[in-house]
Parts: sequence; structure tokens; C-alpha cells
Amino acid sequence: MTRIAVIGPGAVGGVVAAWLAQDPGLAVEVCARTPFDRLEVETPGGPLTASPRVLTAPDHASPVDWAIVTTKTYDAVVTGDWLARLVGLGARVAVLQNGVEHVERFTPYVEAARITPAVVDIPAERSAPGRVRQRRDGSILVPDGAAGEAFAALFAHTPIAVSTTADFRTAAWKKLALNCAGAVNALTLKPAGVARREPVAEIMRALVGECVAVGRAEGADLPSDLPEKVVEGYRAAPPDGINSLHADRAAGRPMELDARNGVIVRLGARHGIATPVNAMMVALLEAAAG
Ligand SMILES: NC(=O)c1ccc[n+]([C@@H]2O[C@H](COP(=O)([O-])OP(=O)(O)OC[C@H]3O[C@@H](n4cnc5c(N)ncnc54)[C@H](OP(=O)(O)O)[C@@H]3O)[C@@H](O)[C@H]2O)c1
Repeated sequence: MTRIAVIGPGAVGGVVAAWLAQDPGLAVEVCARTPFDRLEVETPGGPLTASPRVLTAPDHASPVDWAIVTTKTYDAVVTGDWLARLVGLGARVAVLQNGVEHVERFTPYVEAARITPAVVDIPAERSAPGRVRQRRDGSILVPDGAAGEAFAALFAHTPIAVSTTADFRTAAWKKLALNCAGAVNALTLKPAGVARREPVAEIMRALVGECVAVGRAEGADLPSDLPEKVVEGYRAAPPDGINSLHADRAAGRPMELDARNGVIVRLGARHGIATPVNAMMVALLEAAAG
């Protein structure tokens, strides 16, 4: 029996835990802040339920084969408390979060060689603890290699498409390019359709242009037309679509601002690349939230 702990069973974690729990060969537990009796996921194919063991304090946790991190990026420290109990000899840790620092974020708690970073594209929202709507089957991308293949095998019985890539860095930076432009929506509190205004699109292009410059300096293979492609994507999306940074600000919740825009400023400074537009977004959104 393979033991799996999902740390942070919110939208993504709830979907992942519920699907993994359908395999009788996997013993799934969830490490939650807010307890619930069972997971109820409204999937594209119909309702899915699961009753994993629910732990609410790291003291109750013991070593597993896989710890899957699905907390928000700003909850790394509390996630580290769980990892200290869950990760023993031979354990692997998969990090399903936004951003490009999946490994760096958790090396204070776990050695880098144990960490499998993941780009997750499973649109989902939580309506109550344990209750999630999964909008699409979605996909997860992990690096090539033994750990990535072992992680993908856990999902073989699910409709979630888990695949590996030889260039994970580029995949993560491409997702960041899309996400960094979303700061405009969070600042204006306007959904995706605001990108149809040309002056707003210009700001999005500038945000992504800085992301491309820093990502290339970090070794990602990013095309020069990515700023335009990102704007086209926002313009083609449903005009009322709300990204998670926008949703979090609107609800008064903490935002993953550092992982989505702050990182471009921090890494840009390391490479001597100016990132004034991302820096401005971070300053304004921090002030607005403050
Ligand atoms: N949702 C999406 O559609 C989506 C898509 C792609 C990528 N992502 C990325 O996936 C990651 C997870 O996002 P999400 O939307 O799933 O977030 P979420 O719904 O807010 O879930 C985060 C979960 O972490 C839990 N948590 C917080 N502190 C904890 C602690 N000390 N111990 C245990 N659990 C704790 C929260 O508990 P509470 O129940 O108490 O709040 C919540 O259940 C983020 O990096 C996000 O950017 C999300």
C-alpha cells in the first residue's frame, strides 16, 4: 500500500485527494487546517466522494511515501511543520503550486533531491471545507525522471492528465508569464475582459516582457511573442473570468503576489534586469491590501 498525504486539501488538494482515494492501492490522508468529514467534488464527469483520514495537527502525522503539497505559496512555513513529520527516509514530496520556486520554497524543510515540482492546471474552486467544484479534468506537468514518472503513475486511474517534460523550467516560466499579467485584474478588480482595453493590454505586455527577460536569464526558453500571446489569451478568455489573485484580493484573503510578481522583481535584481512594472504592481497591490 502506498501512503500519500495531501497537505492543504483546498481546491486543488481536494480534487487530487478525492481522485487518488479512488484507487484501493493508495492510502490517502489529508493534512487540513479546517477539518471536514468527507470530500465531495463536483467533477466534469459527475459527483465524486472520498473519505480520507483527516489530520489537523502535524503531531498526529507519521511518515508517508508521498507528501503532496497543495497549500498556497505563502503558507510554506506551516507546510514545513507538516513535512517535518511526514517525510522520512525514502519519502518524496510533490509541490503543486503556482510560481517558479517550487523547490527553493521547501528546501528549508526537505532536501531538494526529494522534491518534485509540478505545474498544475486544474481549475477548481472550494465552496466549503471538503466541497470543491472541478471545472475541467485538467493536467499536471512534472519533470522527466524516476520521481516524475512515479508521481504520474499515482494518477493512472484518474482523468487528470499527468505528464513529464524534459524542460520543466520553461513550462513553469510560461505559466508565470500568464499569471504575472493577472496582477492588472487584481489591481483594477476587473475580470479578464479588461485586457480588451489597449492601454491595459500594454501594461500586461510590459509585465510579461519583464518576465520573459528574467526567465531567459534563469535558463527558460521563452519566445519573443509571449507578451502578445498572453494578451491574446486574456482577450479570448470569457470576459467575466476571474483569476485567483483577483479573487483573493476581492475576498480580502492573502494573495500569492510574491510568487507571481515579486519573484520577477527579486530574480531580476539578481541578474541586473530592471523590472519596474512588476515592482509597481507589487507595491500597489501590497499597499491596497495593507
Ligand atoms: N484553484 C485553482 O484553480 C488552481 C489552479 C492552478 C494552480 N493553483 C495553485 O495551487 C495552489 C493551491 O491553490 P488552491 O486554489 O487549491 O488553494 P486553496 O483552495 O486556498 O487551498 C489551500 C488549502 O491549504 C490549507 N491550509 C492553510 N494552512 C494550512 C495548514 N497550516 N495546514 C494544513 N492546511 C492548510 C487551507 O485550509 P483552510 O481550509 O483552512 O483554508 C486550504 O484548504 C496555489 O499555489 C494555486 O496558485 C490553483
